[in-house]
Amino acid sequence: RIKKKQTICRTDIDRLNVPFLAIYESLIPSEEEKAKQRQLLTLLEKLVSKEWPKAQLYLYGSCANSFGVSKSDVDVCLAIEDADMDKSEVILKLADILQSDNLQNVQALTRARVPIVKLMDPVTGISCDICINNVLAVVNTKLLRDYAQIDERLRQLAFIVKHWAKSRGVNETYQGTLSSYAYVLMCIHFLQQRRPAVLPCLQEMETTYSVTVEEVKCAYFDQVEKLGDFGNHNRETIAQLVWGFFNYWAYCHDYTKSVVSVRTGSILSKQEKDWTRRIGNDRHLICIEDPFEISHDLGRVVDKYSIKVLREEFERAAHIMQYDPNPCGTLFKRY
Ligand code: GTP
Ligand code: MG
Repeated sequence: RIKKKQTICRTDIDRLNVPFLAIYESLIPSEEEKAKQRQLLTLLEKLVSKEWPKAQLYLYGSCANSFGVSKSDVDVCLAIEDADMDKSEVILKLADILQSDNLQNVQALTRARVPIVKLMDPVTGISCDICINNVLAVVNTKLLRDYAQIDERLRQLAFIVKHWAKSRGVNETYQGTLSSYAYVLMCIHFLQQRRPAVLPCLQEMETTYSVTVEEVKCAYFDQVEKLGDFGNHNRETIAQLVWGFFNYWAYCHDYTKSVVSVRTGSILSKQEKDWTRRIGNDRHLICIEDPFEISHDLGRVVDKYSIKVLREEFERAAHIMQYDPNPCGTLFKRY
């Protein structure tokens, strides 16, 4: 592959602002849907508190990190202190409790990497996954939500990227492509790297929020309302940023040497992370450092086949953004 840095005429690309913003608007969940999600959470809280009065339920994932498109599943974390309880036992017990209420399709998946209870609420039609004590996910959900409040272009870009990834079939971790969480981190990284930057690096700023979860210290600046005009020095439009994002992942990222790191707001080397070779199932073919679990590469699911698929998709998207007279149609074409 030849690294070719492409450029584009601003007036050409800017005619795409209107259609991109229209796609973004069409994906935002309605207030009605949000209300239904809260209603389901209230029902679950009622059921759970009968069995575990001290337990807490937290929303995490896309229904709480502000990157959720309409009709997303609801991710819930049950935080329960009982230290000597086995997670699988809790899952089975929880499934039992929920089953006996009017919920449908309650399934306990005790053998999954993250054991969960899956269910569907017939009243609201919402599907929901409940995990146990996955507090780091609750904290990284807050980090993403806080980033989203700094500059609205992050949410717009991430919606478009997620929509593209789902349409193109590259948002399937079990097939070796990336999670939604990974795509949002890629967007944050990209916006931290623009000059002038659209986003700051919250973990490099003064600590205003700090928790320690499973021996991982999570600390960052969370008073984002004080950063109101941070991104204003950068006047790039959403169309320019979508173009830039695909161009970056198609032609500018060094897949052999680089690790993207939202935590440091920079690019680290695979060398310094010791991510240069395959260890177990971690192949490190595209490296995205988790902001808190820093030994955790969100690209670990990518294998030698799926990396090709991913890179070809980035190149396809970059090519369409550059040359296609009607990119919005082609970009999101079902694969
Ligand atoms: P959609 O459901 O596709 O809209 O997106 P989502 O944001 O819910 O994403 P996903 O299902 O990928 O993940 C749900 C949440 O789990 C994320 O928002 C993270 O908080 C957390 N999560 C997912 N994958 C990982 C991971 O590999 N490591 C950690 N620490 N958290 C993860
Ligand atoms: Mg989800």
